[in-house]
Amino acid sequence: MCGIVAYIGQREAYPIILKGLKRLEYRGYDSAGIALLNGGLKVYKKKGKVANLEEELQGKDLHSNIGIGHTRWATHGEPSDRNAHPHTAASGRFAMIHNGIIENYAQLKQELVNKGYVFHSDTDTEVLLNFIDDIQKNNNCEPEEAVRIALKRVVGAYVIVLLDRENPETLIAARKGSPLVIGVGKNEHFLASDASPIIEYTKEVVYVNDYEIAIIRPDELILKNLGNERQTPFITKLDMELAAIEKGGYDHFMLKEIFEQPQTIYDCLRGRLDATAGTITMSGVEKYAEQIMNANRIVMVACGTSWHAGLVAEYIFEELCRINVEVEYASEFRYRNPVINPGDVIIAISQSGETADTLVAIENAKSKGAIILGVVNVVGSSISRASHAGAYTHAGPEIGVASTKAFTAQLAVLTMIALTIGYKKGTLGQQRYLQLLKELEAIPEKVATLLQSVDQIKNLAEKYKDAQDFLYLGRGYNFPVALEGALKLKEISYIHAEGYPAAEMKHGPIALVDESLPVVFIATKDSYHEKVISNMQEIKARKGMVISVINEGDEQSIALSNDVIVVPEADEILAPMLSVIPMQLLAYYIGVARGLDVDKPRNLAKSVTVE
Ligand code: F6R
Repeated sequence: MCGIVAYIGQREAYPIILKGLKRLEYRGYDSAGIALLNGGLKVYKKKGKVANLEEELQGKDLHSNIGIGHTRWATHGEPSDRNAHPHTAASGRFAMIHNGIIENYAQLKQELVNKGYVFHSDTDTEVLLNFIDDIQKNNNCEPEEAVRIALKRVVGAYVIVLLDRENPETLIAARKGSPLVIGVGKNEHFLASDASPIIEYTKEVVYVNDYEIAIIRPDELILKNLGNERQTPFITKLDMELAAIEKGGYDHFMLKEIFEQPQTIYDCLRGRLDATAGTITMSGVEKYAEQIMNANRIVMVACGTSWHAGLVAEYIFEELCRINVEVEYASEFRYRNPVINPGDVIIAISQSGETADTLVAIENAKSKGAIILGVVNVVGSSISRASHAGAYTHAGPEIGVASTKAFTAQLAVLTMIALTIGYKKGTLGQQRYLQLLKELEAIPEKVATLLQSVDQIKNLAEKYKDAQDFLYLGRGYNFPVALEGALKLKEISYIHAEGYPAAEMKHGPIALVDESLPVVFIATKDSYHEKVISNMQEIKARKGMVISVINEGDEQSIALSNDVIVVPEADEILAPMLSVIPMQLLAYYIGVARGLDVDKPRNLAKSVTVE
């Protein structure tokens, strides 16, 4: 949530920050702002997308070699110019940007109000900034010291970057719980919420750790902990190309990312799966294989689309490994008092690796003795670092706010883990193991074939774009795909949609069915197919419009459907990696047909670093 960018060096800061904010807009886009030092502290802010700010600033003198910028996803206070960041301290000396939530802001605010402070926004950020400002004035100390003292009182999550009118050669940043990457250039530094604003300038980056304060000058990067002890910055080389974060000729990132899936699934399998040799190599999993095999239970912890991947994995693990699996919403799991026994295995699934609920949930479980495996996309992210081991999904940067390619990559990784454990444990026989390896290896090719039917899905989108509601139904491995289809449609098209297990539909949602309700059945051939057909009959009998996702030659479904989408056949364990693709495309094209901004749906943000 919220994107932050900052620059210090010899170049013009404004164009670097502006471009960076556009790259980070997926993190929030209800307002944006920039602060520069140009004959004093200059702060510019505007409600709406970064383009609004850019337009507002046309023709202004924006010269400065230092600056901070922010794109916001509102937490405290409505989206507006005055709630936009950067905020300015009462003294006029500092401007600050912030990503995260200061949970005890009300108490800090009251203390400041008692001292006569007046606030100009509804944000927790302005409170923290004035708290720092107040400490600095009262102690007449270095701003770095004031930040350190202030942060010891702060409860919550934050990345902050402070620009000081009196120190045009220094930025101060700090992090707890929200991400901060610092790009190290020659006599310059770049700060951002992720590497995308940095990649075109330098590949050398430092990931700042929780409870660290960074003092950044053009030629110097000092890291200290809250105890004022120096820490050694650990420089990592970015393994990412600029092309990966550009649209590359597609109208939207979401479409580009849907179309990347043959490659991303392939990349995820590459170097791990060798169907000819009959092997899967995953060093992180190998290390904990004994513990996973002997675990009493595995708990999948995730949110949103990643949670749906966990649901598919539940079916797969139980089938192949005969281990009891539970799938938990991270936000519930972290606040319950869940029973965790030493030796329980938690699999945390996350694209961003920064989702606050998932991160805290695994930290709690870790402290109770659980083994944490991370299935994460963003390399070096907080969840990957908080895990004992795991496997990256290697899907590349996902920029469209709705998750697509990350989901199929998560399924690929989770399936490989289940195959490894099931085979080692002996609950999965050799013949079936080898057959599944072969089938998994063939998935990228099948996804490529499936993507050729895009025009048909575009036509369906036109036909159904004005529906008020949608119902998505599936059973077994395809039940989570129904949930995912409904989630994608809600996010991208703002059409109300519900996903249900197909049989559960008759316990309530069937009341919704009439001739105006499109009902999407995920009905690929599997052990549940006959049962799904019966459910289709029940919808048809009530005049619902049936759109079914089927395999070639499924005459029964064709006879009951108003429209069909054909996907290649696959083993039922692997079928979700195929059946979800039309769900993504349908949501995408309906969103486009309704004239919506599919890459930045309203109210959403890509990386949910608040609880
Ligand atoms: C849906 C979507 C969200 C995320 C959820 C978890 O399209 O993108 O539901 O899946 O916020 O995010 P990660 O996977 O980054 O933990």
